Amino acid sequence: MEEKKARLFSAVQPSGIPTIANYIGAIKNWVALQDSYECIYSIADLHTLTVRQVPAQLRQRTVELLALYLACGVDPNKSVMFVQSHVPQHAELAWILNTITYPGELARMTQYKDKSQRHADNVNMGLMDYPVLMAADILLYNAEVVPVGKDQKQHLEIARDLAVRFNNRYSPTFAVPEGIIPKVGANVMSLQDPMHKMSKSDANENAFISMADDKDTIIRKFKRAVTDSENSISFDENRPGISNLMTIYSVFTGLSFAEIESKFAGVGYGQFKIEVGEAVADLVCKIDAKKKEYLADKGYLEGVMAEGREKAYYMASKMLNKVYKKVGLYIPERKK
Ligand code: TYM
Repeated sequence: MEEKKARLFSAVQPSGIPTIANYIGAIKNWVALQDSYECIYSIADLHTLTVRQVPAQLRQRTVELLALYLACGVDPNKSVMFVQSHVPQHAELAWILNTITYPGELARMTQYKDKSQRHADNVNMGLMDYPVLMAADILLYNAEVVPVGKDQKQHLEIARDLAVRFNNRYSPTFAVPEGIIPKVGANVMSLQDPMHKMSKSDANENAFISMADDKDTIIRKFKRAVTDSENSISFDENRPGISNLMTIYSVFTGLSFAEIESKFAGVGYGQFKIEVGEAVADLVCKIDAKKKEYLADKGYLEGVMAEGREKAYYMASKMLNKVYKKVGLYIPERKK
């Protein structure tokens, strides 16, 4: 008999065009994990509302993100893909989890502190409550594993704490999720400031490579990438610029750091940056072309969305009913 696969959940926010950091830290690994786990991949649209969005743009980015998942190789015959707001149980479970969350544990989150500074004119409750909605996303499916980049580690810790707290207060209900954080590329840095992470919402477009950039743009951005004055290709934590470029090149070519060092022995930064740009552009442009094909078939995309919603809704409503019962909410007979 086939062994039951462990459940996996992850998501990306449609808050901007994803960058190669989202691809390296998350989506690339999602594709690789599809055969080993029962995978559920969401488009976290409710999370984006914690920062001001242009409504028409958010709607467009939501379908584009689904097309990108498909273009990267997430397969609807293997994995469930759906839009978070299509399954209302996410917001409902977040409410229940809110009742066992302390404001202090949310106020100390690094991302909350960063975003409150960057969006000082819009520090709203949603921004602070963001990790609780994320915990609801994960716990609603009893996910055992969650593949994410390093920046989500703290949020995952909250999800684990809430699962344990709920299980202790009521009775064992939720699996306590483990993170899957890639060995190489868990924290891709900005091309303009290698001490800070690459982010799709960076105001400086030269800081990131978007998954929709064309070849010339990609190569130009890599040529401008900030490095140090040493001019030798070797991995060294004290030289974050070149180490970041080596990380990106390693992920896109499959070469190890040692192989990259020997391949580029005696070669200067200028030449290396062009080679990194070419390797990245090769794949990014292929993915972008596929994404455009998917986008041209709106009927297909809506079909994938509807099918994903149905599967996710079924799992989520079963779990939420269980939670409502445990906390003592009255569930009418016909809904059971
Ligand atoms: P988001 O949209 O900011 O990022 C999506 C994924 O990309 C990873 N990532 C990175 N990886 C490496 N280097 C970087 N510089 C980098 N920047 C981003 C993120 O770690 C993430 O895996 N809150 C989440 C979305 C979410 C979620 C969830 C994730 C909502 N619910 C439940 C997991 C489980 C977010 O904003 O990701």
